[in-house]
Amino acid sequence: MERKHQIGRKNGSWNCLLLLLILLIFTVVCINLVLYVYLEHAYVSTGFSHGDPNVCPQGYFKIGAMKNCSPWLTCEGLEKEVRKLKLVGEGAVKKVYLSEWKEMKVALSHLTVPSLQADFLHGLRMLKSLQSRHVVTLVGYCEDNKSILTEYHPLGSLKNLDATFNLPKYQYLNTWQNRLELAIDYVSIIGYLHSSPLGVLVMCDSNDLDKVLSQYLLTSDFRLVANDLDALPLVDREKGRLVKCGPREITGDFIAPEQLWPYGPDVEFNNDLMPPYDEKTDIWKIPAVTDYLLGHVEGSDIVRFHLFDIHTECKKENPAMRPSAQTILDTYRRVLALLLKELSNSKEML
Ligand SMILES: Nc1ncnc2c1ncn2[C@@H]1O[C@H](COP(=O)(O)OP(=O)(O)O)[C@@H](O)[C@H]1O
Ligand SMILES: [Mg+2]
Repeated sequence: MERKHQIGRKNGSWNCLLLLLILLIFTVVCINLVLYVYLEHAYVSTGFSHGDPNVCPQGYFKIGAMKNCSPWLTCEGLEKEVRKLKLVGEGAVKKVYLSEWKEMKVALSHLTVPSLQADFLHGLRMLKSLQSRHVVTLVGYCEDNKSILTEYHPLGSLKNLDATFNLPKYQYLNTWQNRLELAIDYVSIIGYLHSSPLGVLVMCDSNDLDKVLSQYLLTSDFRLVANDLDALPLVDREKGRLVKCGPREITGDFIAPEQLWPYGPDVEFNNDLMPPYDEKTDIWKIPAVTDYLLGHVEGSDIVRFHLFDIHTECKKENPAMRPSAQTILDTYRRVLALLLKELSNSKEML
């Protein structure tokens, strides 16, 4: 009887313990849920871009040696505080001047072709929304006189990459490691655009290699940032919305096959009949850009060999079969880690 009583008491305390355990798990789950909802909310309300610690809140910037974030300059600030020094670049839409603001170098861009105002304003809207470590820092803008002020990068666009690496003071940086890091940066930027806070964006200003290279800037610490965001249409799969890179026919062997007019030379191009496409056009172009970035230094061909399979995937005719930018990025990072390990192993052997 006493034993039965004891067993009953034991069972009772086990049940009590089990109940306590369930309660504990339930409380932990609840706390996690509350924390998750709170953090989600905090992320949205502060407006920090993708949690980058160095990026200021929306509407603010920090460049050079600035300690604190400062609000974007307005028309008045641009007119009174910015001194234009010299023309440093020109594309289809803007003229870009090296300028000075509070003893810091900045780039002042002016719209040059009034008929391209929509592209200019689209670019400005994208710059405002996509501030992050992947995009050039916006310093201010004035819509009235179509001006944009950004951080100045003295090494200029990616078009100058080989010339820059050939300068005596930078030759020591011209290694397969640094070049592969640039390719990693490039694919990171494409990945960021494909999963941007605004949705899936396609880098349409990319009909040939030179055009692509002119849209990215090389920073003084040899990283890449996207600069020209004038042609970034949105893919919205849920609404069945795809894109076309401009209303005119595009040709050449750089662009993806689905961007070519599909009805042959005998049928005149008609934009209404041109089928739209998605962000996988950017994926098609990655092997060509990476090939340029890897250049011809000792070791670049070994990197090319290791990237061969993933690049073959990028060149699949069917866009849906091409990998995502994230998958390519993972492969690039794996190859970098593998080759660095091999390098350190071979050094140890010596
Ligand atoms: N912030 C900058 N720092 C240094 N050079 C720049 C900067 N912004 C633009 N440039 C130069 O100006 C060129 C044209 O700029 P971009 O914004 O691409 O104009 P567009 O829209 O007319 O193509 C770039 O390729 C680059 O050489
Ligand atoms: Mg450009």
